[in-house]
Amino acid sequence: MDKNLGEITALLKKYNQEQLLNEYENLDEQKKKMLLEQIENIDFELMNHLYLTTKGENKNQSDTITPIDYLDKNKLYDDYKYYDNIGKKAIEEGKLVAVTMAGGQGTRLGHTGPKGTFDIGLPSHKSLFELLSDSLKEAGKRYDVTIPWFIMTSKENHKATVEFFEKHRFFGYQKNKNLFFFNQGQLPMMDTEGKILIGEDGLVKLAADGHGGIYEALVKNKMTDKMRELGAEWVFIGGVDNCLVRMVDAVLMGIAIDKEVTVACKSVVKANPHEKVGVFCKKNGKPNVVEYSEITDEMAEARDEDGELLYGESHILCNLFSVDAVERMGARPLPYHVAYKKAKYLDKDGNLVVPDSPNAYKFEAFLFDAFGEVDDMAVLRVNREEEFAPVKNSDDAGVDCPKTARKLYMNLHGDK
Ligand code: UTP
Repeated sequence: MDKNLGEITALLKKYNQEQLLNEYENLDEQKKKMLLEQIENIDFELMNHLYLTTKGENKNQSDTITPIDYLDKNKLYDDYKYYDNIGKKAIEEGKLVAVTMAGGQGTRLGHTGPKGTFDIGLPSHKSLFELLSDSLKEAGKRYDVTIPWFIMTSKENHKATVEFFEKHRFFGYQKNKNLFFFNQGQLPMMDTEGKILIGEDGLVKLAADGHGGIYEALVKNKMTDKMRELGAEWVFIGGVDNCLVRMVDAVLMGIAIDKEVTVACKSVVKANPHEKVGVFCKKNGKPNVVEYSEITDEMAEARDEDGELLYGESHILCNLFSVDAVERMGARPLPYHVAYKKAKYLDKDGNLVVPDSPNAYKFEAFLFDAFGEVDDMAVLRVNREEEFAPVKNSDDAGVDCPKTARKLYMNLHGDK
């Protein structure tokens, strides 16, 4: 037994995770080395702590939640032009880059392959990535610039994502010049007994660490340095699965610059007071997003003197940050939330188990948990039918699915 293996066996014993070496003897030399490296890199104290959170998340009941101010894009009147001009100037000066978070597993959609490669069924059969690239290029034309595009992938889907872009000639972008791919972090998955799972390849079963991993991934992979080199000061960060995402928005940028905030977010008003979405608010005086389950029915239904919901601005993963704010957010660890998901794994006899219902805990950081890092942010309400067509579920679900997204896309664009 080599020294490294001896030490690792002791480490696993200490944390009651000896199963991680079950497949060791069956692996080739390269994979043996990989497995040992993976195990050395696991923060077992953190994993223990995370397992305990699966027994009931530690919510801080003493948080004070209050409404946050927002602007309505339809009610800016004369200010619209004012903000638009400020944002336009900054975009024309090349101060904006776009990031697409494409590291998710897309389990609800059930598409094999990266979610961005999914064809929502438009007559053109364009993938989500192509629809996003169309919108970026169109905006680039409007402002006579190329908006650099950064794509966050996970280790699981990185290769397939880059190959897809290659096959489509990077949609007219140039890799490493104005198109950059980078990987997000990962955490081990655990079973309900707190045992870390072994994946099909005999290695530790890892999964992407949630969209909150974006900040750390941008900083660690030196993407924020790259943004500065390109002359950018602002980063729009959005998801891959909103086929109407408007990544270049001069009004949003103008508001951020004029109001001297480092984060400006778009919202859409809740479809009804009890819609199960996260909404913008202030938590202990700092910007935040609360889940529907964290506010009372009374709060969910409360309205201001104009009849608008006090907690009605849904977070739609459409956020603009200064590069400085991203770096600040990337320097601090975020809390992890637990999701219960289906995960294939090797059992103790080395047999592959393919579950048909959730069997494993996945730990994810949420992007909005970093919002408290800034003192203030701007929230801009936009029109749902113009900017929000999420593709989360398969058509059977009937909501936020390819069918609904296709309809919304075609209502706005036809089939371009
Ligand atoms: P979701 O939270 O909807 O998750 O992601 P998902 O992984 O796409 O789908 P499910 O929950 O497994 O069905 C919202 C956005 O955040 C990205 C997704 O790619 C999507 O653009 N994301 C999510 C990441 O980039 N990394 C993650 O770890 C999680």
